[in-house]
Amino acid sequence: MRKKIIVGNWKMNMTKTLSKEFLNSIKPKIKVENMDVVICPSFTLIESLKGILEDTNIKVGAQNVHFEKNGAYTGEINLDMLKELEIDYCIIGHSERRQYFNETDSTVNLKAINILNNSNITPIICVGENLEQRQNNSMYDLVKGQIEKAFENISNDMAIKCIIAYEPIWAIGTGITAASEEAEDMCKYIRKVIENIYSKDVSDVLRVQYGGSANAKNCDELLNMPNIDGLLVGGASLKEEFIDMVN
Ligand code: PGA
Repeated sequence: MRKKIIVGNWKMNMTKTLSKEFLNSIKPKIKVENMDVVICPSFTLIESLKGILEDTNIKVGAQNVHFEKNGAYTGEINLDMLKELEIDYCIIGHSERRQYFNETDSTVNLKAINILNNSNITPIICVGENLEQRQNNSMYDLVKGQIEKAFENISNDMAIKCIIAYEPIWAIGTGITAASEEAEDMCKYIRKVIENIYSKDVSDVLRVQYGGSANAKNCDELLNMPNIDGLLVGGASLKEEFIDMVN
């Protein structure tokens, strides 16, 4: 049985002061039972969030990491820096990073390998099509290609440690959620792709999340789908609504 996982992706939002206020207000109301709950804030907030959340079951993750060990990469963050902060998860290949910061399938692959070979951090690998690709029905090939590349040179044992987040770009921050059947259909397809690369054993345990305008109204239906093991939540994770989603 795959454990459900809800991840809040705060993106470039919140400050130390605002996050402290927000978390202290949601902490007493949020119930984390039989599932994983994670918040991925900006790098500068990780340490303070770890402190605020230490008496809860809520874990902290990062939104990105560089694939090189260290060096002349101005503005980047390496894995050792994140390990020192004792985070548990790291999002890689988010569509906003692919769109605005030249993230490619190959850098996503290098990042996944770096994380898996050198830490116990769980990579959350994002994939998903844009509107045009959905409209011309090329989304299956696109997502398959993203996954095949992301998992290149990753062994079975390493693959089961990963989470895949299916995030159709047209649904991110737009208020348009994929219909739960649409989301389920792609998450099921993703599981099949993993089965073809690895085996049924791997695809049975690897968790696949959905992300894109998930909110308190649609989360039940999405989470009840057999192949959707969790949600990657942007906008709604910055609001009290996140409590209802988790609860
Ligand atoms: P959204 O973002 O929930 O605001 O659509 C999801 C994401 O980008 O992870």
